Amino acid sequence: MNLNVALLGFGNVGRALAALLIRKEAALRQGYGLSVRVVGISTGRHGQAIDRDGIALQAALEAVEQGAGLDGPGGAVEDVGQFVAECGADLVFESIPTNPHDGQPALGFARAILGSGVHLVTANKGPVAFGYRELSALAAQRGVGFFFESTVMDGAPVLGVGREGLPVAQVRRIRGIFNSTTNYILTRMEQEDLSFDEALAAAQAIGIAETDPTLDIDGWDSSIKTVILANVLMGADLRPADVDRQGIRGLALADVQQASAAGERIRLLCEAERGEDGRVSTRVYPERVPFQAVEATITGTTSIVDFETDTLPRLTMIEHDPGPMTTAYGMLADMVNIARARHRSDLIERPG
Ligand SMILES: NC(=O)c1ccc[n+]([C@@H]2O[C@H](COP(=O)([O-])OP(=O)(O)OC[C@H]3O[C@@H](n4cnc5c(N)ncnc54)[C@H](OP(=O)(O)O)[C@@H]3O)[C@@H](O)[C@H]2O)c1
Repeated sequence: MNLNVALLGFGNVGRALAALLIRKEAALRQGYGLSVRVVGISTGRHGQAIDRDGIALQAALEAVEQGAGLDGPGGAVEDVGQFVAECGADLVFESIPTNPHDGQPALGFARAILGSGVHLVTANKGPVAFGYRELSALAAQRGVGFFFESTVMDGAPVLGVGREGLPVAQVRRIRGIFNSTTNYILTRMEQEDLSFDEALAAAQAIGIAETDPTLDIDGWDSSIKTVILANVLMGADLRPADVDRQGIRGLALADVQQASAAGERIRLLCEAERGEDGRVSTRVYPERVPFQAVEATITGTTSIVDFETDTLPRLTMIEHDPGPMTTAYGMLADMVNIARARHRSDLIERPG
C-alpha cells in the first residue's frame, strides 16, 4: 500500500517523526507492505513544502534544524483543506502546539481534514479533549481513521490497550501520573531538598517546563489527559474544566519533607472513576502515597496508568524516558494501525 502523508507541524515531535519514518522505512515496507511518501510539511514560521513526488525528508530536517526553513511560503497555513488537497495526502500527522482553552486552531483543522475524507493522526491534546465525540463521528462517517495515541503518555499504547485489548470490559477506574513536569519537580524536591521554585527552575532549564508553567503546575495538562482517557475508554463526555482540579503550585519543601518523614511521597494523581449511578467523575490532586505504593516509585519524567476493570481487576503500565521520539513512535504506530484498518473498531461503543 502506498500512503501519502503530510506533516502539520515540524517542531520537536514533527521532526522526530520524520527521522523515525526514515529509520523505519524498510521495516514498514517489508513488514507491513507500507510505502510512505511525505508529500507536504507545514510549519508556523519556518515555511512550507509540498511535493507530490515526495519531499526529501533528510534535507527538510537539516534545513529547519539549521534555521534556514523550508522553501515554500512562510506563515501558518490558513486553509488546511486546500493545503491537504494540494499535497494529495491520504493521512495527516498533526503536531502543532496544544491550546488548552478551546483546542483551536487544531480543532478546526481536524474537522477540515477528516471532513475531506483524509485520515488524521494527532499528538495534540486540544482537538481530542474538546472534540473527541464529534471528530470520531465525523471520521466514522467518512470512513477514515482518527487516532491520537501520543496525547496520553506519549508513545505508550495506553489508548490502544484500553480500546483493543479490553473488549467488553467495563473500565471502572483509571488512575495514574500523567504529567512529567510536576513529577520531575516533586522528585527533585524530595531527593535534593530543593524548594518548589528551585525545582521548577531546574525543570525549565532542561526544557521540560515552559516559561509559563501554568499548564503543568496548576494541573491543566493532567486534567486534559484524564478527560481524554475518561471520554475514550469510559464513555464519558467531559471537558477539562469539568475536572475537580488541584495542582502543586506553591507546594512547600516542608510538606515534602513531612511526607518523607512519615514514609510517604507526594504525587500529582489523576483519576477517573465510575460512581454507583454510572456517572464518571474526574479528579487531579496531590496525594501522599506510602513509599511502597507503586506511584511512589514513579520518579522524574516517568509516568504510570492503572486500569481497574470488571474483567482484569488491575492492569498497570509504566512509561520510562518519554520524549519527542517516543511521542513520534505513538504517531507512527497510529499510522500503521490505520493502514491495517484498525480504526474501524472505533465504531464499537465502550460499555458504560
Ligand atoms: N514534546 C513532546 O514530547 C510531546 C509529547 C506529547 C504530546 N506533545 C504534543 O505534540 C505537539 C507538538 O509538540 P512539540 O514539542 O513538537 O512542539 P513544538 O516544538 O513547539 O512544534 C510545534 C510545531 O507546530 C508548528 N506550528 C505552530 N502553529 C502552526 C500552525 N497554525 N500551522 C502549522 N504549523 C504550526 C510550529 O512551527 P514554527 O516553529 O515554525 O512556529 C512547529 O513546527 C503539541 O501539541 C504537544 O502538546 C508533545
